[in-house]
Amino acid sequence: MLFKSPKKPVALKGKLTLPGDKSVCHRAIIFSSLARGESLIKNFSGGDDNLRTLRIFQKLGVEIQKKDEKTYLVKGRGRNSLTEPEEILNAGNSGTTLRLMTGLLAGQSFFSVIAGDRSLSRRPMGRVTEPLKLMGARITGREGGKKAPLAISGGKLQGIRYQMPVSSAQLKSAIILAGLFAEGPTEVLEPEGSGGSRDHTERMFEFFGSPLVQRKGLVRIEPPVPEFKGQEITVPGDISAAAFFLVAALILPGSDITLSGVGLNPGRTGIIEALQKMGGNITVTPEGKMCGEPWGTLRARSSKLEGGDFSGALIVRMLDEIPILSIAAAAAKGPTRIRDAGELRVKESDRLKVVARELARAGVGVKEYPDGLDIQGGKGFQPASFISAGDHRIAMAFTVASLSAGPGAEVKGTESVKISYPQFYRDLESLSKKR
Ligand code: S3P
Repeated sequence: MLFKSPKKPVALKGKLTLPGDKSVCHRAIIFSSLARGESLIKNFSGGDDNLRTLRIFQKLGVEIQKKDEKTYLVKGRGRNSLTEPEEILNAGNSGTTLRLMTGLLAGQSFFSVIAGDRSLSRRPMGRVTEPLKLMGARITGREGGKKAPLAISGGKLQGIRYQMPVSSAQLKSAIILAGLFAEGPTEVLEPEGSGGSRDHTERMFEFFGSPLVQRKGLVRIEPPVPEFKGQEITVPGDISAAAFFLVAALILPGSDITLSGVGLNPGRTGIIEALQKMGGNITVTPEGKMCGEPWGTLRARSSKLEGGDFSGALIVRMLDEIPILSIAAAAAKGPTRIRDAGELRVKESDRLKVVARELARAGVGVKEYPDGLDIQGGKGFQPASFISAGDHRIAMAFTVASLSAGPGAEVKGTESVKISYPQFYRDLESLSKKR
C-alpha cells in the first residue's frame, strides 16, 4: 500500500488516544493465560504482533474470547494448564512473541515448534536459546538453534545466574519466564553501565500478585512463585506509537496536539527527553498507574529543533524510536550524532541502514556507522518515494517525513503498520488540518 503526501500542507491539531502498548499487551496475554481465573484486557492494541501472541496461547489450550475490538477475556486455568499444540506456532513478524514464548515453552512438558516470517527468521535467536540450553532446555533450529524455526522439547530446567551480553528486555523476559518453571533460583544481570532494559515483565509479575526480587541491574526469580490471580488490565497507550505524532507536531508548523493515556514507563521515555533536549515543546502531565505502569498526558507544539548527541543508556530507553528521532534530526538545525545503537541492525529491518538510505533519498546528509548515524539537519526533506522495507516503524517514520516534504512525497509498503498500529493512518487523518 501507498501513502501520498497531501497536496496542501498540513498541521496536526487535536486530541488522540493511542492503541495499547505493544510490549505490555504481549505480557498481559502471557500472564492472564498463566493465571488462575478470568482476566479482562482492555485497550488491547489489535496489532498483528500482539494477535500472534494471543493466537499462540489459544493453540496452547487457553480460552480467549474477543469482547470487542479492544477488549479480550482470558480464562486462565493456572500455570500448569498449557497443552501441546498440534500445529506449528506462528510468531509472524514478532520478535517479542518468538523470544518470550521460547523461554516459556522450554519449561513445559510437551513438544512445540515456533516459527516466524522471513524477517523474523533472519533475526538472532541464539541470544535466547544459548542461556536456555544452559538451563537444560532442549532446543534445535536452523544454525544449531540460532535462527527460527525452533523446535522445543520442553522439560525440566535448572535455574541459572546469567549475565546478559546485550541489554534486551526480550532476552531478560525469556529467561525469567523459563525460570518460573525451573528448579532453584534464576538471576538475570544487565550489562555493566547499560542502565537497564524496559521492565514490563517485572511490573506484570507484581501486578499479578507475585513480585520478583529486583536490585539495580538484577532480576531474581525463585520458584515456587505464588500462583498468578486473574486481573482486570487496562493497557496504557503506546509511547512508541505516540512518538510519530510527537515528532510530526514538532516539525509541522502550526501544530498543537494532546495525547492522552500514554504509558510513561521510565524505560521507555527516552524519546521525550531526547526531543525536549533538541528544543521540542513537549509537556508531560503524569496522571497515575494502570496495571503497574505509570501513564499520563502529553502535549506537543511546533518547535524550532536543534540537533543533539545521543548515546549510552538513553539509547536503550528509546530503542524503537531511533527511526522517528532521525526524522526529527533531519528537520532540526545542525548535526545530530547517534551511537551505541548497533541493536537496530537486528530489528524488523536493519534500521540504521534503511534510515540512512531513505534519508539520503530526501537529500538529507547522513553517514552510517556500525552502531549509529550522523545526520546533518536543516535543509528539510526533498519530496521522495520512500520504501518501508516491510518495517512498520520505518513506514510510520517516513510518513512523517513525507508530511514535512509536502506534495510529491510518498511511502511504499505502508501495510506494515498493521504490525503495531493498524489504525495509524486513520488517526493521522483525524489530527491533520489544513495549514
Ligand atoms: C521489546 C523489547 C525491545 C524492543 C521491542 C519490544 C519487549 O527489544 O525493541 O520492540 O517487548 O520486550 P530487545 O529486547 O531486543 O531490545
